[in-house]
Parts: sequence; C-alpha cells; structure tokens
Amino acid sequence: MKHATQSLLIRGGRVIDPLARMDAVMDVLLRDGQVAEIAPPNKIRAGAEEKIDAQGLIVAPGFIDLHVHLREPGQGYKETIASGTAAAAVGGFTSVCCMPNTTPVLDSPEWVTWVRQPQRGAVVNVFPIAAATQASKGAVLTDFRALQRTGAVAVTDDGKPVLSETTMRDALRASAEINFPVIQHAEDTRITQNCSMNEGPTSFRLGLRGMNVNSEAAIVDRDVQLAQQFNGARLHIAHLSTAASLTAVRRGKKNRARVTCEVTPHHLALTDADVRDYDTNFKMNPPLRSAEDREALLAAIADGTVDAVATDHAPHAQHEKIIEFERAAFGITGLETALGLVISVLSADHRLPLTRIVELFTSGPARVLDLRGRGTLLRGSHADVTIFDPKKRWTFDASKSRSKSHNTPFDGRQLTGKVVATIVGGKIIYRAV
Ligand code: DOR
Ligand code: ZN
Repeated sequence: MKHATQSLLIRGGRVIDPLARMDAVMDVLLRDGQVAEIAPPNKIRAGAEEKIDAQGLIVAPGFIDLHVHLREPGQGYKETIASGTAAAAVGGFTSVCCMPNTTPVLDSPEWVTWVRQPQRGAVVNVFPIAAATQASKGAVLTDFRALQRTGAVAVTDDGKPVLSETTMRDALRASAEINFPVIQHAEDTRITQNCSMNEGPTSFRLGLRGMNVNSEAAIVDRDVQLAQQFNGARLHIAHLSTAASLTAVRRGKKNRARVTCEVTPHHLALTDADVRDYDTNFKMNPPLRSAEDREALLAAIADGTVDAVATDHAPHAQHEKIIEFERAAFGITGLETALGLVISVLSADHRLPLTRIVELFTSGPARVLDLRGRGTLLRGSHADVTIFDPKKRWTFDASKSRSKSHNTPFDGRQLTGKVVATIVGGKIIYRAV
C-alpha cells in the first residue's frame, strides 16, 4: 500500500496542531518530504499529484511514541523492526523511539547504526534509545557522547532501573554536559523481587506477591532531587503509574528541573482489579495500579503534568505468556490500540479536549526528546501526518494485528477513535480501507 508521491494535498480536515496553536478546517500541502503550505479550504493554488479528502476527520502532526520495544537485534521471534513499525503505522505513529533491552543490549554506536539502517525495513521513523550503562548492568556508563553522535536520542536501562544512586548521579551529570535525556524505569527492584502485580486487595485474593507503590515513587523522588543538582540535566520518567510519583514530578517541575514523564494507555484504561483470573495479558511492569492511582493519572493528564502518552509496546511470544502468571513475561502490545483507548477514556468518558489528546501524541513527546521538526505541521516541518476519525466506533481484533505478537488485554474491546491514514515523509504508508 505504499504510494510514492512527491506532493499530496489533504483537503478539508480539521487541523489540530497544538504547537502552532491551530485548530481550524484547513488544506495541507505536503511536498518533497516537507509541509509546504497550510491554508483555509480551496486557497492552495499549487497542484498536487495525490489528494486525500479529510472532511469530518482530524488532521494532526504525525504521532510519536517515546517507548516501543522493537526487539531487534536478537529477538526477532517476538517482533522485528519491520513488523513493529508496520503496527506503529496502523496505530498512527509516524515516529517511534525503540528501547535498548535487546540481544545484545543496544549499548554501542555500532548497534545504534545497525538499527537505523534501511535494510531493517522500517516503515516509520525509528529513533533508537541506547543503554545508559554497559549491557544495562547498572555499573559502568556507556559513552553518551558517541551514542548521541550516531543518532541515539536518549539513554535508558529500561526493563530495569538505574538503581545505584552514584551511577544515576554520574548519568545526570553527563546529561547536563551534553544535553542528552536520561530515561528512568523507576522501580526499586530491591523491594519488588518475585512480585508479579500491584500490591492490593487483588494480589491478596490471587495469592500473588505484590509490588508496593513506593517502589516506583522512591526512585522518582530520588532522581528528581538528583536532577535538580545539575543545571540542565534532563530526566524523563518512563511509564509513570502512581499518584506518589506524580507528586515528585510536580515538585521537580515547580523547582524548574528539566523533568518530564510519560503515561501508558493501559494505565489510563485499566486497574489491578482487571487482573481477574491470572490472565497474563494483564501482566506488565509497572503493573496495573489501584483505582486511586488511575484517577491521579487522569488528573495529571488534564492539568498538564504528564508530557506524553507512550505505549510501552512490549511484544512477547506465546510460550512466554501462556504459562503460570508468576512465570510469564512482563509486557503487552500497544501500538494499534493507543489512540482508540486514549480517546475512549479521556475524550468520551472524561471530556478532555481533543487538542490536549493530540498534544500528548505529538508536540508533547517531540519536546521530551527534542525531535526537531516533528510533532507539528508548521511550514517546513517533516511531512509526517496522522489523520483520524475521533468518533469512529470499532472493535479491536488482535488476530489481525500487524505485530508479530498478540499479547494484549484489549482483544475484542470496543473503542472510539480510529486512525484513517498515516503519512511519513509525504508518503501514505497506511490507509484504512
Ligand atoms: O512490561 C514491561 N515489558 N516492562 C518493562 O519494563 C520491559 C518490557 C519488556 O521489555 O518486555
Ligand atoms: Zn520499563
């Protein structure tokens, strides 16, 4: 379904571009990989080789996902860069940032280069995030400068935390020196060992060891304080999931530390009470939390504390999931359901304006990792566009997923809001039939 075009006119859609403060019916002309012109309907004189009628639809900057596990190198049985980015395109994501907990761990410039090579078959933009420490063992920092130079957009040991305070201090010092974000998977693993879900009435009923909420907040709190010690250090909290963590992030932001955070669609849509019968499709890390934590996330989305929605798309094969709950791998897929879940929960149920929802998928994440010329449709920006129908009701069918893995709790779920077309560099790479 790939159309090679040099110019594409998107006509009559409602253009929402939070960065440009635009929310109006407009025509958008893409030419030679850039946004060439935006004007009120029928005002663009230049011709276009291809046209899309977007009447009744939202035309947004291409969505950006800050947290995706594409599993290459080394775990192609779960996902490949080709299959993962195909799923991203269905979900409206024109750019994804991929996580380094691969085999081997992405801790060298050579592997960063490998991920970015065209032979990988990516259909959307891929921005690698490299490991913060060698082999993500938490002891010796990687060469941030060399990784940044080869195209890594941040560092993290995601899957696990940078647990040592000394290592984190050194990482944030280096971050400040070269203006490079450090992403923390905030979990005090000294107190979450052998835990497979959130600690609460449900873990008690199921007889599963539960993770205490403070295992996340303690690390967020510590790191926010560390970030404040180095002027210019950039700290981003991955998949933030508790009320207490939000308190720490708010404090950091108030003290003008460069602290940002992301929240996943599943933590907005579900709680630990949904882990009913040891269904491993509800097992991820951080785990689904209490109803109070979920309410706190919704409030923080509304008041601007949360900078981005990120999926933490974490594909796993059947043999890693269809086993006992405590032995199953942590993680769920998420690229194709993200927009539908966020619109269903935030817009349909909580009346959050669409402009804020678009911001969480576009200018928000672009700002977190400083992705220049993305997350906006300002003239001269990259021609990455997501067109969606915010009212379309549909049912997600996991068996039709483009991902290699189908470990999702949302199979058969009714959603509101669906991607209609995904455009990367001016080319239509996905179009709903
Ligand atoms: O649920 C998760 N899955 N959390 C993580 O931190 C890692 C991820 C994975 O790589 O599968
Ligand atoms: Zn993580």
